[in-house]
Amino acid sequence: MKLHSRKGAVATALAFSLALAALAASTFTSSPSSTADAKYIGADKCKNCHKVDENGNQFAHWEKSKHAQAFAALASEEAKKIAKEKGIEDPQKADACIKCHTTAFGVAADQIKKGFDAAKGVQCEACHGPGENHMKARMAEAAKNEGKKERVQVPEGEIITKIDAKKCESCHNSESPTFKGFCIHRFGAEQKHWDPRKDRAADTLICGCSGKEGCKHTCDDKCGGKK
Ligand code: HEC
Ligand code: HEC
Ligand code: HEC
Ligand code: HEC
Repeated sequence: MKLHSRKGAVATALAFSLALAALAASTFTSSPSSTADAKYIGADKCKNCHKVDENGNQFAHWEKSKHAQAFAALASEEAKKIAKEKGIEDPQKADACIKCHTTAFGVAADQIKKGFDAAKGVQCEACHGPGENHMKARMAEAAKNEGKKERVQVPEGEIITKIDAKKCESCHNSESPTFKGFCIHRFGAEQKHWDPRKDRAADTLICGCSGKEGCKHTCDDKCGGKK
């Protein structure tokens, strides 16, 4: 008898979780709000919404950074010299160089939106993942709450925000002909473009530190002297 009622409970629980799974599957197909099936749209699209000074102006910060110049830098004399030693004629056309100096290298053409400009270098989506679905979701939301100014917390997964040192090190590594080391504390602080309105207390930052103050570690105390 005891066994029987337990079986019933298991069956009910199973039916319930199947119903939940079906619900999850249907919400997933009806709401396109994940980077998983999104296309790369390019920094010029992000600019439309992320160029507001009070919100941290991520676009202006990026535009001034070396990431924005990463493709252009491949046309410099220095780049040509490095390339020549490797038997490469034009670094801007060589996979061996553009793999780290552009965004979405190796991604299938149908995952890249028309108008995406690879010449813009290491763009937002190199770290945040493809942004098409995020843009669409935010446009739909903005159309609903016209004039609303408070910060919105976007659903988890709509755009990538958990970016750790491994992501950076996929390009910042000894395969780079100019590599002199990579320290997340120094490089992370330099490329930081936080939104001052965001409550960060619960966040894990790329250096492993938490809180509004950000990372106070130096390269020496966390990276074993590695710069
Ligand atoms: C139509 C406007 C719009 C466009 C285009 C847009 N965003 Fe956003 N984005 C938002 C809004 C709104 C938020 C929520 C924060 C806020 O209220 O400012 C947000 C939040 C974010 C966040 C923070 C998410 C979090 O959980 O803290 C990231 C990262 C981000 N966007 C990256 C991008 C990137 C990269 C692009 C381009 C590929 C992009 N956005 C394009 C409107 C937009
Ligand atoms: C594994 C990724 C990677 C590859 C492959 C790569 N680079 Fe780079 N490149 C970087 C990174 C990261 C930097 C920033 C400095 C550093 O840490 O090396 C950089 C910096 C540079 C700079 C200095 C730019 C400046 O602003 O002074 C030049 C020039 C350059 N790379 C040329 C090349 C050329 C030419 C090739 C192809 C032969 C190439 N890179 C291949 C990642 C890479
Ligand atoms: C897609 C490859 C790629 C990724 C991912 C990447 N970077 Fe870079 N980064 C580069 C290249 C290439 C350069 C050199 C551009 C140049 O000098 O023209 C660079 C330059 C920089 C610079 C300027 C260095 C200098 O010598 O002044 C900083 C700081 C930096 N990156 C930080 C980061 C951080 C932090 C992350 C991770 C959150 C990251 N990068 C992720 C490719 C990348
Ligand atoms: C080199 C990697 C890299 C690039 C390129 C990059 N970001 Fe970020 N972005 C980050 C990291 C790392 C964070 C902080 C995530 C965290 O620690 O919470 C961040 C945070 C953000 C946030 C949330 C603000 C906050 O306080 O956390 C927005 C919005 C954002 N980025 C937009 C952009 C836009 C728009 C671009 C291009 C114009 C861009 N990012 C380019 C790595 C990058």
